[in-house]
Amino acid sequence: MIYTRIVGSGSFLPSTVVSNNDLAKDLLCRGIHTSDDWIVQRTGIKQRYVADVDVNTSHMAVESARMALIDSGIDASDIDLIIVATSTPDCVFPSTACVVQSKLNASRAAAFDLQAACSGFIYSLSTAESFICSGKAKNVLVIGAEKFSRILDWNDRSTCVLFGDGAGAFVLTASYDCGILSSCISSDGSISDILSVSGHFDRGNVNGCPFVRMDGQSVFKNAVYVLEESARAVCDKACVDINSINWFIPHQANIRIIKMLSRRLGISNDKFVITVDKHANTSAASIPLAFNVAKLDGRIKNGDLVLIQGVGGGFTWGSLLVRI
Ligand code: UT7
Repeated sequence: MIYTRIVGSGSFLPSTVVSNNDLAKDLLCRGIHTSDDWIVQRTGIKQRYVADVDVNTSHMAVESARMALIDSGIDASDIDLIIVATSTPDCVFPSTACVVQSKLNASRAAAFDLQAACSGFIYSLSTAESFICSGKAKNVLVIGAEKFSRILDWNDRSTCVLFGDGAGAFVLTASYDCGILSSCISSDGSISDILSVSGHFDRGNVNGCPFVRMDGQSVFKNAVYVLEESARAVCDKACVDINSINWFIPHQANIRIIKMLSRRLGISNDKFVITVDKHANTSAASIPLAFNVAKLDGRIKNGDLVLIQGVGGGFTWGSLLVRI
């Protein structure tokens, strides 16, 4: 049996940290009221990282990928496929993945972007798993990278306080020992309007809204429901008792969603990796960023069973159970 194993991980955060108080002061200059209290109580977010104008998504993707490659011991020239999960590509085309391929000198690799909003990293891992298990690729680099600050309406306090920029990467390889045990990805396009950036180019104009628009309460309710359901589904698929999981890494959007999920699954909060306080919601980058924090601080170890989950625009969601 061939498994897809995570053999390296890396992350990148821009140098500028914006605290809730910094952001509240900045918004107040434009007559928009928010506060550290409101943001912390409703979301758990205390700060976010914001990339400078000249730092684009591919830059952050490359930095996280370099770290993951070093961690894996695999050379860029041995990578067969690069998938970049992003909703904020550098441009329409070439894909951000092709820019990354060139900057890494990963000359053998096929490269493409995958867009599934905040579920993009889970969708990409699941895709990578299919390539590896079918024998079409041996080594795959999967990156989640976002410059969400570009698509935020800084006059809309209900969304602009929620997101941040950053990138995270995994190097995956075929293994006979262990790796991904089960995965599932799902979508429901009939509720796409609850979270969207509808803007698009049309004959030289941008038609539609170029900013994130969200019905926060609908997203919240749907997120809790689908995260619980898909966590149970991947465990059933792999015949794994949910209580035997060492670490839960859900998409980092809101601490209240994570706490509600932990209650509904009957799993202690202590088993959940939380980075939303420091990174805010970095969309497709949130899972690898959180994973790397827990790996570097020694929580995630070889042999651990880890559940990772994404949910977001589309509406999309997915879960993946992996033995490290
Ligand atoms: O990555 C994709 C996944 N995204 C998510 O998972 C987001 C899910 N949704 C949420 O996390 C929450 O719904 C929010 C954090 C977005 C909002 O929390 P909420 O408890 O649902 O608040 P609300 O939208 O019901 O707003 C409550 C009040 C409103 O004022 P009124 O109408 O009660 O007077 C808002 O205008 O809070 C007001 N409000 C704010 N006040 C201060 C909204 N944004 C802010 C703000 N600062 N930044």
